[in-house]
Amino acid sequence: MAYNIVFFGPPGAGKGTQAKIIEEKYGFKQLSTGDMLRSQVAEATPLGLQAKDIMDRGELVSDEIVIGMIEDEMNKAHHVKGFMFDGFPRTNAQAEALDAMLKTRNEKIDLVLNLQVDDEELVERIKKRSIEEGRADDTVETFKTRLAAYNDYKTVVLPYYEEQNIVKPVDGMKSVDEVTTDIEGAFFK
Ligand code: AP5
Ligand code: MG
Repeated sequence: MAYNIVFFGPPGAGKGTQAKIIEEKYGFKQLSTGDMLRSQVAEATPLGLQAKDIMDRGELVSDEIVIGMIEDEMNKAHHVKGFMFDGFPRTNAQAEALDAMLKTRNEKIDLVLNLQVDDEELVERIKKRSIEEGRADDTVETFKTRLAAYNDYKTVVLPYYEEQNIVKPVDGMKSVDEVTTDIEGAFFK
């Protein structure tokens, strides 16, 4: 039986970092809507051109676009132990669409990891990554908008899963290795 996890947390919390580690170690499949959108932007596809300005401002891309991308990727994936949704869902419509897609596979979201990191630490990580990777939305201004968006959508998405009793807090302030150990503890419990 598949086991599906949502990685939830603010920009720079370590969702992608941890999802990649767990993917390598255990064979789960990471589905990052941010990574998918960035590759569409890099390839200058019609979808990428539509998303670019919105992403550069740090706002949310339409539900239709992100749900469609997730659906395509889920349909392509066979024989995975489960999905790790990174940066998705961010709205109630996305959360409901995700449940509906999983239901057609007789699956559900089993665990939501709520990564928690102080705002000051997030800013430091984003500044560092902007030098290392040059991500277009890693500017101080856009980061503020991304963080504000997160503070807004977390009041919708977290309660959706809290009602199901599947949210586990993870202290994302620890080192990368320590966070991985805590995540393993959360899903092997
Ligand atoms: P997305 O790509 O999802 O960005 P985000 O949520 O802002 O998150 P980040 O990728 O910045 O952070 P992360 O938590 O993955 O941290 P990371 O592991 O990289 O979304 C980008 C945009 O796309 C959105 O603004 C929106 O426009 C659009 N979008 C995406 N999904 C959407 C959706 N569902 N609906 C609508 N629009 C959507 O770590 C950050 C840095 O910190 C790295 O340099 C890393 O090396 C370092 N680090 C990680 N862990 C640690 C640690 N424990 N200690 C020290 N450093 C650490
Ligand atoms: Mg990420």
